[in-house]
Amino acid sequence: MNESIPYLDLRAQIKPLRKEIDAAIARTLDNCSFCLGPDVVQFEKDFAKFCGAQHCVAFNSGTSALHIALMLLGVGAGDEVITTPFTFVATSWAISYVGAKPVYVDVDDATMNLDPKLIERAITPKTKAIMPVHLYGHPFDLDPILAICKKHNLPLVEDTAQAHAAKYKGKIVGTFGAVSGFSFYPGKNLGAAGEGGALVTNNAEFAKRARSLREHGSTVRYYHDEVGFNYRMEGIQGAVLGVKLPHLQKWTDERRRVAHRYHELLKDTPLQLPREAAYAESAYHLYVVRHPQRDKLKEHLEANGVGCALHYPLPLHLQKCYASLGHKPGDFPLAEKAARECLSLPIYPELTDAQIQRVVEVVKRFFSHR
Ligand SMILES: Cc1ncc(COP(=O)(O)O)c(C=O)c1O
Repeated sequence: MNESIPYLDLRAQIKPLRKEIDAAIARTLDNCSFCLGPDVVQFEKDFAKFCGAQHCVAFNSGTSALHIALMLLGVGAGDEVITTPFTFVATSWAISYVGAKPVYVDVDDATMNLDPKLIERAITPKTKAIMPVHLYGHPFDLDPILAICKKHNLPLVEDTAQAHAAKYKGKIVGTFGAVSGFSFYPGKNLGAAGEGGALVTNNAEFAKRARSLREHGSTVRYYHDEVGFNYRMEGIQGAVLGVKLPHLQKWTDERRRVAHRYHELLKDTPLQLPREAAYAESAYHLYVVRHPQRDKLKEHLEANGVGCALHYPLPLHLQKCYASLGHKPGDFPLAEKAARECLSLPIYPELTDAQIQRVVEVVKRFFSHR
């Protein structure tokens, strides 16, 4: 019987770090630094340095960080934010939370990221920001989007939730825009032992206000300058992230090894493979292949013990929660096609060559019957 291969194997990452993680958690319990605290402060400094940014503000989730990012930029009720319909829903939540409207623009077929060529025609006097996503860890094309931002005097928010350590023209993403939001959800490339997120910026005023907003709108205890939130990162998450951060670059290199091996072994199959654009060094949060018979291929992989997943099966403009926007099928054809065809294969730093070969063998068997 062949070994089954899980879609994601977090145990494999935790196992070699278990002693250090246990010690970090024990330290938090000993210090009773449960909400923020010294390990969170240290992690903020280290993560800012890793990104080449001046400030990092830690949050209880990536969603909270993106919400506050839009508040810092003054986006509010009645405003519009240009974004992608093909992402995890939280990108649009941030826009909805501040009372603004997500204005979707279709994606580029090769990268499945927001297509820069379509942005300008969506700009109106109500547009207050542009918020694309470095989807699956592959950077979106920053230069043309930054040029549009400059021309129309609009800030850029990078949704970097899936792209820790990805590079655009040699520079780590997350510092190109006015603010960016990271997620440390456990399955992310840098994952906490629970929920977590961070906002990264080079703007000192933004960082200061973000620290206040995440803590009930307060810098002096029990004095509240504005209506704020309880969006603090837990001390335990800061401690665990501090143990994991030194491994992030190595893990990213390993993800890239897995992706390159898949490319090599799958290149002669009928699958559309993810390809890096010339400007990009993807962090390969996900390895997403495409095929019109995606559902049948998924069934075949699962029946043969290979885990896989869909990111994402329904674009945001067709989700029930956004029915009030009035979109219909066909509005963003490339996002809809990507949603019908996408299939995420197992990818994580610990995936062995034998496991990769097994995934490939099962994929190839699917096509040999057709
Ligand atoms: C693209 C994208 N944006 C935002 C988020 C939200 O992050 P979190 O789950 O930490 O709130 C996620 C992750 O779940 C994501 O994948």
